[in-house]
Amino acid sequence: MGHPVAHSRSPWIHTRFAQLTQQSLQYERRLVPLQGFAADLQAYIAAGGKGCNVTVPFKLDAAQAAHTQSPRVALAAAANTLVIDAEGRIHADNTDGLGLVADITRNAQVSISGQDIVLIGSGGAAAGVLGPLLEQQPRRIVVCNRTFNKAQALVEQHAELAKLQKVELLALEQQGLEGNFDIIINATAASLQGAGIPVPASVLRPGSLAYDMMYGPAAAPFLQWAAQHGAVGRDGLGMLVEQAAESFALWRGVRPPSQQVLQELRDVLAQEARA
Ligand code: ATR
Repeated sequence: MGHPVAHSRSPWIHTRFAQLTQQSLQYERRLVPLQGFAADLQAYIAAGGKGCNVTVPFKLDAAQAAHTQSPRVALAAAANTLVIDAEGRIHADNTDGLGLVADITRNAQVSISGQDIVLIGSGGAAAGVLGPLLEQQPRRIVVCNRTFNKAQALVEQHAELAKLQKVELLALEQQGLEGNFDIIINATAASLQGAGIPVPASVLRPGSLAYDMMYGPAAAPFLQWAAQHGAVGRDGLGMLVEQAAESFALWRGVRPPSQQVLQELRDVLAQEARA
């Protein structure tokens, strides 16, 4: 459920997961009117819907529409996965951060524990991943954003978890950002607007992981910038597949072979780009 949804690769991913795990599943795009999320969700449940993913701009509405929330949803105030039980009650979860962590640690084989991280952006995308990043116990996470007070608010919201996990968590101004980091995560919409890279190249170390949560052409400027400065660029396609795998496991209790599906999806996208 989203607006827009035409671009979404999720039906392809979940259909492939279902094939590979012998699950019977129908997963379709659902374009939701901008002002009509709650009513549309009820219509979906009345029609027999068992679960859904929720994307921009409804992740906050999805969290609010649920009867119960996972701790991750409570922290991020955003949900991307809804599970509908037999009585029509709605449980909300957020698998975005788990997907990011799985892609970095399992697929890219980069450890988060003990590392210095900068998270750029403080919108819904950044909010959804900060909790799971903290749970990996990096040494430090700096949150920076064009609008500084949003970064501050996000840090305040996560201060207790950071303390619990013994992680140094702070907000810094994007412009004057100093120091360099092991992992740089771009959770902004800057490249969609052709606005360039929101932080100075001095944040990169040779061999740093520079991760853009977008994929396809939207991630290209960030990946190019990373390569120019000796960092290892990675797009968000793996995060997309891994968050889908977490959602699939919540709905079905079965873990799909996400690395295989990620490779297949990369091949499909490469073929499309050549066509
Ligand atoms: P999403 O749910 O995808 O995170 P969002 O909530 O609109 O979308 O947040 C977009 C993020 O990209 C914000 O951190 C935004 O910065 P502001 O909080 O200052 O708006 C950031 N962003 C968008 N355009 C940007 C640009 N041109 N330069 C830098 N940051 C930008």
